[in-house]
This record gives sequence, C-alpha cells and structure tokens, in this order.
Amino acid sequence: MSLSNTVTADLADKYDPLNDAVKQNPYPYYAKMRATEPVMYLPHMDTYAVASYDDVDKVLKDHRLFSSQHFWPELLGEYDPVPEVPPMISMDPPNHVHLRKLANKAFVPSKVAAMEGRAVEIVNELIDGLVAKYGQEGEFDWVWEFTALYPVTIISEVLGVPTERRAEFKVWVDDLLAAANRQAYGPERLAEIRKHSDELRNFFEQLYDARKANPQDDLLSTLITAEVQGETMTRLEVLQMATLLLIGGVETTTNLLGCTMVELHRHPEVYQRVRSDHSLVPPLLEEVLRFNPVVQMLFRHTKEDTELGGVKIPKGKAVMPLLASANRDESKYANADVFDIDRKQEVPMMSFGQGPHFCMGSFLARMEARVAMEQVLSRFEVLEPVSNEVHWLDSYFARGPHSLRVRFKVR
Ligand code: HEM
Repeated sequence: MSLSNTVTADLADKYDPLNDAVKQNPYPYYAKMRATEPVMYLPHMDTYAVASYDDVDKVLKDHRLFSSQHFWPELLGEYDPVPEVPPMISMDPPNHVHLRKLANKAFVPSKVAAMEGRAVEIVNELIDGLVAKYGQEGEFDWVWEFTALYPVTIISEVLGVPTERRAEFKVWVDDLLAAANRQAYGPERLAEIRKHSDELRNFFEQLYDARKANPQDDLLSTLITAEVQGETMTRLEVLQMATLLLIGGVETTTNLLGCTMVELHRHPEVYQRVRSDHSLVPPLLEEVLRFNPVVQMLFRHTKEDTELGGVKIPKGKAVMPLLASANRDESKYANADVFDIDRKQEVPMMSFGQGPHFCMGSFLARMEARVAMEQVLSRFEVLEPVSNEVHWLDSYFARGPHSLRVRFKVR
C-alpha cells in the first residue's frame, strides 16, 4: 500500500509555485527544471527560481551577491507582526552575527541534550492524553493532536511562554506562514491572517513586559537582559526574535514528523525495519529531510547584476533557491528520487540551508523528531494513516500534511 499524491503533475505546465498541482507534488516540476531550465524566471512573481544543487549552494553561501534582507518581507509581506525591525534571518553579515551569537547560546548541542529528558516527558504526556481521550485503540489526527502540539510545547518552554497558549500558537503560526500565499487569497482569509498576526504580537508584548518587570530563567528574559556589543536589544528586537524562534521552531518540526509518517506509510518495508530497530530512526529522519524537505525554498535578492546558470539576473531581483530541488539533484545523489534510509550522504543536504544562516535549530529539531519517533514506536503497536490521500499544506514554502488521521493501538 502506498499513499498517492492527490494531484498528478501536468508537466505541460511550467513550474509555478502558486499552482495547486505544484503545491501537491512539486518534484516532477523541479526535475523538469533541472533538466531544461535550472534558473527560471517567473514573471508573475518577478522572481528567479534556482533548481540545481550547485547554483542553490552558490546563492546561499554568497551573501554579498545574494542578500537575505528581503526574506521576511517576501515571506510575510504586510503581515509581519513586528514590521519595525528585521529578524536576523533577514539581515546580512556582519550585522546578523552578533544577534545570532546571542540567541544561539540556547541551541548549542549541550543545551539541546539537556532538553531531551523533558522532550521524552512531553511526548509521553501527549500520548497519555490521547489514550485518556480515545482508549487503547482508535483513531486520532497525527498532525492536529500530536505533531502540532509537541514542538510548540518545547519552544514555549525555551522561550518561557505559558504552555496553555500552545494551541493558539499553532493557529497563529500557520496563518503567518500562509501569508506567503497572500497573492492567492481573498479579503476574508487575509483579514483572518491580519487578526492572528496582531494577536501574536499582542501576546509577545504582554509577555515581554511581564519578563522585563520580573525576569525568569528563560530565553525571553535572557534576550531582554543580555548585552549585544555593549547594548541591550530593544523591545521590538526581542519581540521579533521571539517571533522568529516561534516560526522557525514550531511549523518545521511539526511538518518533519508529518512527512515522516507519510513516508513510513508509503514505504511499509522501511516502517517494518524501523519498528524492529529503533536505531534506524536517525537515518530515517535524515532521508525524510532530504527526500521531502519541510522548507522547500528560501528567499534572496541580488545586490549586483550577475549571471547564474547562464541566465543574466539584474541587480535588485528576487531569487528563490529551491532546497527541495537541490536535494533531488541527480548529479549529486545516486538514485535521487528513491527513498533510501541506507543512503550514504554524498553531499550535505540543503534542508537546513547552507552558509551564514544555516538553521540555528537543527540540533533541536533532530533531537525533537528522534525522541518523538522513538517514544511513539515504543508506545504504539499499531500507528498508520487511515487513508492513502494526503492533503498537503496550502503553502509552497512549507511542506507537510495539513492533517493526517491515523489508526492506533497502544502496546
Ligand atoms: C525540521 C526542522 C527545521 C528545518 C528544516 C529548518 C530549516 C531552516 C532553514 C532552511 C534555515 C535557513 C534560512 C536561510 O538561509 O535564509 C533556517 C534558519 C533558522 N532556523 Fe530552522 N529549521 C528547522 C527547525 C528549527 C527549529 C526547531 C528552530 C528553533 C527554534 C529553528 C530556528 C531557526 C532560526 C532562528 C534560523 C535563522 C538563522 C539565521 O538567520 O542565522 N529552526 N532553518
């Protein structure tokens, strides 16, 4: 049995990230681009999409030519909850470096290792809650009732955010990411996104004021009190950093666990092996990250006239390195379209980016996902999607199932 893609790619169409068929299954379009037009101008978005591994690598590592400054405006547009200041993901070196050094202290491997015990507890609390609600066997939604609640709890604890607000976070963050699709929405949907963006900001303002008056042992308090080059961060800078960590830390890990369940169901022989040998969880996660990455692309813009893959790109143009396409580049990966957990890493995958903005949360994300899968495999005798259909998120930037009903039986 395998999960089918709900929409078959019509390759007569060119790659268009806003097209529904592409959002459902972008991979055949990426393959066609790599073969025929690896740097493709998308006139309706006034953007150059970049498909080959080497070109994506070049764009991400050369911050002098390919700037990150438009990243946040491209992603969130007017729905940025803190439009007054850029987050570090939208800053170029050297300015970005001191902010990164400060925040990074919470995400180094030793800090992440110290969170593992709590991660195990959180997974088991969530599973206990499901058993209390549905009994020893039944059905639940893998995304809405498990994967969406788990990383938000962890990042909430790191930041010092009360966990009772975690379900609201999921809605706020989903809508912020949906803002990437804003060209496709009507006024009602846009009003909803506006409302949730404002709610997120109000919430962090209140939390900032509470922690400023009464600092706690949490990251938000650290960001408020710490000094950067002799100066403390302003209220707005702290709000923006908190928003970035929430966006970076919630949806991504949720989607990694969502994609992992999809791939396990598509590859039952792999599921069987991982069930009987939990030490295969890390290579399983690495292959899910490569094969179906949760961040499909990034945003840069040119600071000078340049040429990439034989295509002239004028100064000031948007460039979209397609991480997910680079990960399937057949010149870098043998049998790139085959899902293979025994794969030896030929070149670094692009899923966490490359260069100065390489994901700050990669250790945390890998730990969270590994702990979740290990605990889930130990606690459930049966856990499998009830349908072959996958309803993917309505986003070309973020990849993951929107929801995924699973049938379960606990051991
Ligand atoms: C599967 C999980 C994740 C994936 C695939 C992922 C992917 C990425 C990618 C591709 C970038 C590079 C952005 C760029 O170059 O413009 C990035 C940056 C970043 N990620 Fe993640 N991420 C994940 C989880 C997390 C988590 C759990 C956090 C933690 C809170 C996090 C925090 C960040 C931050 C703060 C940045 C910006 C770093 C900078 O600008 O220097 N990410 N992530």
